[in-house]
Amino acid sequence: MKTESYKKIQAQIDSILSEENSLIANLANSAAVLRSEFGHWWIGFYLVQGDELMLGPFQGPVACTRIKKGKGVCGTAWVNKATIIVPNVHEFEGHIACSAESNSEIVVPIIKNNEVVAVLDMDSTKFNEFDSKDKEELELLCSKLSRFF
Ligand code: SME
Repeated sequence: MKTESYKKIQAQIDSILSEENSLIANLANSAAVLRSEFGHWWIGFYLVQGDELMLGPFQGPVACTRIKKGKGVCGTAWVNKATIIVPNVHEFEGHIACSAESNSEIVVPIIKNNEVVAVLDMDSTKFNEFDSKDKEELELLCSKLSRFF
């Protein structure tokens, strides 16, 4: 089921990225493709700006705008340069609750020239929503997006 969804998503995003070079447009449409397939609570990007992450294109409710390096799941994924899967956000020390509805989360860094330039964040109202399949597919997606930075 997830495999089929990601197959569809990757093809759709490949097509979008082949036709457009605008970073913001491509991030916005990638968030839209993911949201329309999965319907997760919040899907979006935070972009590295100096020593913080700035809210970028997203789908879902209003979110926190700035996250300091090393803070929350997003800031930790930035520092670690690695994906973080959080099965229960209430058990993640320092988790930033932009919304009380969120129960699990995955954050995937976008890396360019060995530096994190942004992160992709997906939040679910369900516990334990994200697994190694999401990690693998979203890392692939983020590697495709890195060329627009
Ligand atoms: N929960 C994230 C903050 C971003 S929102 O979930 C959209 C974190 O702890 O970094």
